[in-house]
Amino acid sequence: MSKALEQELGQEVDKRRTFAIISHPDAGKTTLTEKLLLFGGAIRLAGSVKARKASKHATSDWMEIEKQRGISVTSSVMQFDYNGHRINILDTPGHQDFSEDTYRTLTAADSAVMLIDVAKGVEAQTIKLFQVCAKRGIPIFTFINKLDREGRNPFELMEEIEQVLGIRSVPMNWPIGMGRELCGVYDRMNDQVELFQGDDHSTIQLKKVDGYEDPVIREMAGDFLHDQLCQDLELLDVAGDPFDLEKVKRGELTPVFFGSAVNNFGVQTFLENFLKLAPKPEPRRSTEGLVEPTNEKFSGYVFKIQANMNPAHRDRIAFLRIVSGKFERGMTVKHVRAGKEIKLSQPQQFLAQDRDIVSEAYPGDIIGLFDPGIFRIGDSLSQGSEIVFDELPTFSPEIFAKVTVKNALKHKQYQKGIDQLTEEGTIQVFTTVGFEDTLLGVVGQLQFEVFEYRMKGEYGVDVQLQRMPFQFARWIIADKIDPSKFRINSTLVKDKKGNYVALFENEYAMRTAMEKNPDAKFQEMAP
Ligand code: G4P
Repeated sequence: MSKALEQELGQEVDKRRTFAIISHPDAGKTTLTEKLLLFGGAIRLAGSVKARKASKHATSDWMEIEKQRGISVTSSVMQFDYNGHRINILDTPGHQDFSEDTYRTLTAADSAVMLIDVAKGVEAQTIKLFQVCAKRGIPIFTFINKLDREGRNPFELMEEIEQVLGIRSVPMNWPIGMGRELCGVYDRMNDQVELFQGDDHSTIQLKKVDGYEDPVIREMAGDFLHDQLCQDLELLDVAGDPFDLEKVKRGELTPVFFGSAVNNFGVQTFLENFLKLAPKPEPRRSTEGLVEPTNEKFSGYVFKIQANMNPAHRDRIAFLRIVSGKFERGMTVKHVRAGKEIKLSQPQQFLAQDRDIVSEAYPGDIIGLFDPGIFRIGDSLSQGSEIVFDELPTFSPEIFAKVTVKNALKHKQYQKGIDQLTEEGTIQVFTTVGFEDTLLGVVGQLQFEVFEYRMKGEYGVDVQLQRMPFQFARWIIADKIDPSKFRINSTLVKDKKGNYVALFENEYAMRTAMEKNPDAKFQEMAP
């Protein structure tokens, strides 16, 4: 590799941070994202994230937002610069557009920011998203939000994080009061106090202090809050986990920051610490071993395919995470699965509302490739090699429906549509063992609506979906499988690769099946 390229790649990789924010709806993800973008000087974006959020819609009129697909596609990845870093935030849709895409997007992140509402603690969607990150062992940073509201005791929240998520935490700062009493936070790493000044303060007031016992804090916060602070921090110093970067990197310890996104309080300090501690783009596993980001040969993989819902523009965009090398517009790369060379001529980069044509990009960046139907989720692209990256996991669906085609003459188009939409990751398809019925599985209800709409719009097929009462799917690994042991509130199906999957109506049915099949393994993800 030329010295110049080696140096360029090294520098570009070092400055990049690619992460996703994981949270339950209403914890403040939109607000936090917007504040982060503002720090990046992306002022023209102010309100744009919010505007998208405002158009969050009742399920029935989701097509309205699809008409504005331009916006929602482009905000899938937000890129901005801050203090010499280039930051890529991957959007993880929540609310009713929660889907398998949300999970898959996490596979393209090198770290995650877990946002928790101080009053609500760890909520359902956070748990699911956390588990996907934990399986990958990526570092997770916690921001406990809405400190300007009365919330739960910070120790209680730390305990909940450990009990529910199984990860230890280390508070990087600690609240001095909360809600109406909120005075600020004490920065444990730098011995300083960040003062809370109410509404949307953009200049941060930092006061250097001499440890948490410094009387200056007492003057600012009063006796009661200062006593409380000293008591809490003494306890943390003695009984809490020390900060350990190696454990953070392995995903065994989460640094915790307290703040209030809407007031812009604690956000900048969070961002600065995050940038210092979060990993740069990581190597990825492939058929040729670990692929280092600084490898001169360009490579990447497709983790998401987004279709344009507008019938006048049937194009799709394949989202590619760059793993190694330098991307240059117009370059020719190998589409390994298809065994073809393709030219990447119209790549797009995402910066909230604008779709910019990108001419150069580096590991950690996400580019959007115009897709005339040649990509599948998990496809690898590489320059001058046959690298295939590890397959992306298939996530366990939670909502199921039996699908039938209304007009039997349309069967061919129906099959084509099902195949295509499965490849795009819109739905998962199962066939019942014995009955050969087709069942669809999804993570979010909206996926069914997208399926019905696109089957009609693109393939001219009217389908009928009949909801099934199952809630859990487990891939069954066993030498011998007896379907009669999966009959009570459950059913046995095969996925498209022929793997056995059991569907259960409730946890009780799942436990019963596990007891009846002690030698079988029940997996949450496809083998
Ligand atoms: P989401 O994307 O995670 O769903 O959450 P979003 O940012 O939309 O925030 C949800 C609600 O929480 C919003 O209020 C938002 O203003 C509020 N919020 C976010 N951060 C904070 C914070 O630090 N403190 C307080 N008190 N509230 C916060 P909303 O009433 O639903 O919307 P809006 O009318 O304020 O926009």
